[in-house]
Amino acid sequence: MRIDIITVLPELLKSPFEASILKRAIDKKLVEIHLHNLRDYSIGNYKQVDDYQFGGGAGMVLMIEPIDKCISKLKAQREYDEVIYMTPDGETLNQGISNEISLKKNIIILCGHYKGVDQRVRDLFITKEISIGDYVLSGGELAAAVFCDSLIRLLPGVLNDETSALTDTFQDNLLAPPVYTRPSNYKGIKVPEILLSGNFPSIEKWREDKALERTTKKRPDLLN
Ligand code: ADE
Repeated sequence: MRIDIITVLPELLKSPFEASILKRAIDKKLVEIHLHNLRDYSIGNYKQVDDYQFGGGAGMVLMIEPIDKCISKLKAQREYDEVIYMTPDGETLNQGISNEISLKKNIIILCGHYKGVDQRVRDLFITKEISIGDYVLSGGELAAAVFCDSLIRLLPGVLNDETSALTDTFQDNLLAPPVYTRPSNYKGIKVPEILLSGNFPSIEKWREDKALERTTKKRPDLLN
């Protein structure tokens, strides 16, 4: 998978890809991340990428011209399956969306900033708008990092244990069951006996029961 991210703050998006699972995925060439600084496509001597909004009102708006230049350049080089805009008024991200987008080959992610982007950018170029929750961030960069993390961990070969993304919370609309590690007895608090039994069919059944119990208690909405 190839992900091109367009942003006015590329430095905000460097460190998430320089550690742990995401770094390993890049090193193993399972994903390519390309950061594009919108200022490189700016207009005029002032490297302008934003301007006041027509009609008045506080806050700057990202201009269409630099975004058009950047997206058009990318699209001239390869086909893109989606051009995604990170915005608090987008569709709320969930595991189903991440599963679907993780199957795509090339995607562009545009990070919003200030008051957002000129509406014509959304009308002309954007195929999907994604929010990571009902709260407002200073820009789309951290949201893009969250979204990319959720995609990359699903790509085949990224996780050591191939099955482990499949047992994540939210896969199958269930929360994951409780997990335990050593010691089996900590200050008198014991790990459930069944997990030490070596009876794997029973352990699997226990995990399914606990996943359902936890989901019923904490997130009954997922079961509907
Ligand atoms: N940009 C600002 N807030 C955001 C959010 N909640 N989700 C996605 N992009 C955003």
